[in-house]
Amino acid sequence: MTKVAVLGSTNMDLVAYVDRAPERGETVTGREFRTIPGGKGANQAVAAARAGGDVMMIGAVGDDEYGVRMRENLEHSGVDTDLLHTAEGPSGTAHIVVDGKGSNAIVVIPGANGTVTAIGPGEIAAIAEADLLLLQLELPLSAVLEGARAGHAQGVRTILTPSPVQQLPAELLDCVDLLIANEYEAAELSGHAEPHAAAEVLLSQVPALVITLGSKGCLYAARGSQTVHFPAPEVAALDTTGAGDTFVGTLAVALGEGRPVPQAIAWASSAAALCVQKPGASISMPYRSEIDAA
Ligand code: RIB
Repeated sequence: MTKVAVLGSTNMDLVAYVDRAPERGETVTGREFRTIPGGKGANQAVAAARAGGDVMMIGAVGDDEYGVRMRENLEHSGVDTDLLHTAEGPSGTAHIVVDGKGSNAIVVIPGANGTVTAIGPGEIAAIAEADLLLLQLELPLSAVLEGARAGHAQGVRTILTPSPVQQLPAELLDCVDLLIANEYEAAELSGHAEPHAAAEVLLSQVPALVITLGSKGCLYAARGSQTVHFPAPEVAALDTTGAGDTFVGTLAVALGEGRPVPQAIAWASSAAALCVQKPGASISMPYRSEIDAA
């Protein structure tokens, strides 16, 4: 079983489903409101566990009702939460508007995630034991950097999702084996809107990367090889929230199992395509048997 450590966020997603997102200054009436466990870290952990990984979640929830629900949600999918601490104060929340095309806009309030400014010996040991480490940017950068250093020092394959996007210290990028960014994040980090051009710039900072392109699939670029485009399965998207996280968690398991990159990307793309056909982030992620069937 692929051992995956996720150092990342848990958020309760407060989701408003609308036909059309409001313009600046406009009020619209939505269709439905739901609270759904999410957070980029927790989503990636759930995706990896459902895909067949042995997953450890490192981070923090608040001492509120959301914290209890998010911990239960992770455990229900088989994620080990021994290193998911309970901090005083509110859990992280994400305020999400999903429009009639399934596209979303998200505001994250860190809450307990903001208390994870450093990691301790237990977390470092868990990272050292893993085959892969998954990092995103919804925890303070100081903790992400410590996690990346710990993983790098032990030769743990490290995947970074640079979201929410920000300029990254070279020291962090030096520890990353695979960067997985969406088109917007790749453009922000590279200064190039065109994905091939963005990939070329980013390859000077990391050895390999995936730029996800939504319904258009993704680009895979690695130093010394030709950049390859992978198409995505054609499906009708209901809610794209968590699709990127599904891709990352599933891909990590496939790579840990030693599958070649094209096969791993195809498998992860199938998982992401299944995720967008259901509402919500972590609750819409497929189990291994469903991915295989797809
Ligand atoms: O990537 C999707 C996630 O981003 C949501 O679940 C939300 O919590 C935000 O962190």
